[in-house]
Amino acid sequence: MARRLLAVSILPLLVLGLTLGLASRANAEEGSQSLYDRLGGVYNIALVVDDFVDRIVDNEILNANPQVYAHREPLRFPGLKFQLTAQICQATGGPCNYTGMSMKETHDGWMITEEEWQALGVDFKASLDKFGVPEAEQQELFAIVESTKGDIVVGAP
Ligand code: HEM
Repeated sequence: MARRLLAVSILPLLVLGLTLGLASRANAEEGSQSLYDRLGGVYNIALVVDDFVDRIVDNEILNANPQVYAHREPLRFPGLKFQLTAQICQATGGPCNYTGMSMKETHDGWMITEEEWQALGVDFKASLDKFGVPEAEQQELFAIVESTKGDIVVGAP
């Protein structure tokens, strides 16, 4: 009788333990997924970049900067989309190899201001929202973008 009672009281604990164990393993696997995987891979990144570049090339705040406007060349838009996609793919842990110029070299001497930086951020957020990128992934992407600010914005640390 005592043995039966023991078995009856241990069984639910075993089931609970197994369930929790499996759940935490699933969480660990989810947590170890790269940002690239969580975004859904290079096609999803390209989708966001395509929309984002379409926005920034028509952004009045950015085009008011003479250096930026001078580099606004429609025949180069697809190339810019390609480079940006490869850059984000690589930075998020994907299997891409960004071969473009460094951020410092590319934007050197363009005197990009804080206001222009903010305007770019608004466009980026609009594209991320449009394709339903979750808040946590958006924050990670913004942290990557933010890490380039010192090389792009004049006077930024
Ligand atoms: C307000 C901020 C920024 C402005 C106004 C700006 C503008 C531009 C422009 C006009 C080009 C030249 C495109 C061409 O050569 O035809 C360019 C190139 C590029 N930008 Fe930016 N950009 C800004 C910030 C950023 C940020 C935050 C990133 C990525 C983190 C980025 C990544 C690139 C890349 C990858 C290229 C192409 C480089 C290459 O062709 O080798 N830019 N940008």
